Amino acid sequence: MAAGGDDRVQYYRYKGIPLPSHLVPEDMDAIQDFAVRDDDVFIVTYPKSGTAWLQRIVSLLRFGGDVSKTDLKEQDKLVPYFEQKCGDSATFRELPEAPSPRLLKSHLNFSHAPVQLAQGKGKVIYVARNPKDLAVSYYHFHFMVTTLKNPTSWEQFLQDFINGEVSRGAWHDHVLGWWEQKDSPNVLFLRYEDLQKNTRKQVGKVAEFLQWPVTPEVIDKVVEQSKFQKMATNPATNKVEGKEAKAGIFDSSKGTFLRKGIVGDWKSHFSDEQSQWFDTFYQEKLGPTGLQFDFE
Ligand code: A3P
Repeated sequence: MAAGGDDRVQYYRYKGIPLPSHLVPEDMDAIQDFAVRDDDVFIVTYPKSGTAWLQRIVSLLRFGGDVSKTDLKEQDKLVPYFEQKCGDSATFRELPEAPSPRLLKSHLNFSHAPVQLAQGKGKVIYVARNPKDLAVSYYHFHFMVTTLKNPTSWEQFLQDFINGEVSRGAWHDHVLGWWEQKDSPNVLFLRYEDLQKNTRKQVGKVAEFLQWPVTPEVIDKVVEQSKFQKMATNPATNKVEGKEAKAGIFDSSKGTFLRKGIVGDWKSHFSDEQSQWFDTFYQEKLGPTGLQFDFE
């Protein structure tokens, strides 16, 4: 592909979208026919939108905020990465044997996702994040993931990001594909910035959407245990020695997964010119759709 960066790492295109080598084309075909269960929970995001945060919230809700149950194994085992091949086979191939409710994380574009999700089976929690902070987070993440190209510079990465020449393709295509589904009864569309502003309210929304009964005390525990600092220091959630690290996909010596966890970090990377150019580009893409983000 015509993107800059480390040429030792290659992406391939699946239905036009660049994907990394830990997603296998035969798997991507098979995923479309995946048999979804009514009580499946898919947390879907473009990478760096707060996926791990939602994994934490959903798993805590599932176990009534009881960390002795959620922290028994690492979060990526409790809420595995649906389409990823990390070991012998992709996660979704093992799921027919898994007990309900299956809690899953995915970065699939709507057009790549199991068809039954679009038919109303299962539940999807989609999390979107403002593209400026996301681009910064994704830039840093590229140095840690061995199947992503090391950017040669921030400027080059930003250009590739806006052109959709990064793994998972154009952010706006991803987010808008799912935004169009936001009124489906089996889809809950959340924003990272709203989670930051009022975590409690958003946790309540998630519980209501999943129809999992919760008490205010459980919500308190979920909010507390999903705080950035708690997750950053918890081996179950900080990915330092997780299965991706063991499989060589993730190198925690090259950065920190729970990096800053704030809204507005884009200001430390974008020049005024880049910021204006970025705003104009995304205003064109998002303006007509009604989807808006907070950047502060
Ligand atoms: P930063 O790199 O800006 O810090 P994902 O899980 O989709 O890969 O997203 C990772 C981003 O979400 C990182 O952003 C990470 O710090 C942030 N994040 C994860 N857990 C969080 C939490 N509990 N509160 C706030 N941000 C969180």
